[in-house]
Amino acid sequence: MEALLEILEPDAPERALVQSLDPGRLPCHIAIIMDGNGRWANRRSLPRPAGHEAGVEPARTVIETCARLGIRYLTLYAFSLENWKRPRAEVDMLWRLLQVYIRRELPNLMKHGVRVKAIGRIDALPDPARRELVHAVEATAQNQGLQVNLAINYGGRAELADAFNAILDKARAAGTLENLRVTEQDIAGCLYTAGVPDPDLLIRTSGEMRISNFLLWQIAYAELFVTDTLWPDFTRADLLRAILEYQSRDRRFGGLAAAGAKAR
Ligand code: FPP
Repeated sequence: MEALLEILEPDAPERALVQSLDPGRLPCHIAIIMDGNGRWANRRSLPRPAGHEAGVEPARTVIETCARLGIRYLTLYAFSLENWKRPRAEVDMLWRLLQVYIRRELPNLMKHGVRVKAIGRIDALPDPARRELVHAVEATAQNQGLQVNLAINYGGRAELADAFNAILDKARAAGTLENLRVTEQDIAGCLYTAGVPDPDLLIRTSGEMRISNFLLWQIAYAELFVTDTLWPDFTRADLLRAILEYQSRDRRFGGLAAAGAKAR
């Protein structure tokens, strides 16, 4: 938290928000559905790609803020399997944007000790974007700070299908297919997010009350925070308010409330 306070101006309104946070109950993992870029552009009579370009700055801000707060994991939904249905020009532009963003941001990610991972069907990405992504994953692999999972060409159902097939392949190779029984741990261990704790807080911008095929397995007990703010307008203060709201929630995980227990 000190690392965040030190970059805020003495009279910055975010200061009070940071100081109201309980450092002992920060979410370990935050996941974000960055929605509303198209509407942001429409409202300004701009082409939709301009909305995606405007969406880069809040992604930078959120990554830096999480890194400085000491959040361990951040998962950003950047491109879904279903996004291929968009006009070709918009899809091509999103890949170019991703490529340029990763190349430009790599020094900054290194500076903050961020480890980049990619979750999704990465093999199907256009070559230049895939190469840039793989380079960033490899270059940051030894960093010890915030882990940013970029969900790219990602679908929650596809992830589950891939996990089930991985379980079948392993059993086939081990000759244990006939009596195969699958546990929740087996499934979790074959997801793209294997080894990453489930998200504690899921943020969605632009007011839609949907999950949109994002982290279907992992969000079983995530606290949901939906804001009407469109992604390009999402600020550091909005993120801090979402975390404060999370800290006011009573997480029961299907059990009963422990006296005085709030979000961990
Ligand atoms: C949803 O808005 C957003 C996307 C499909 C792309 C997300 C990409 C970025 C925010 C770019 C930068 C981020 C990284 C990590 C490189 P929408 O087009 O669905 O908006 P709409 O619902 O208003 O049409």
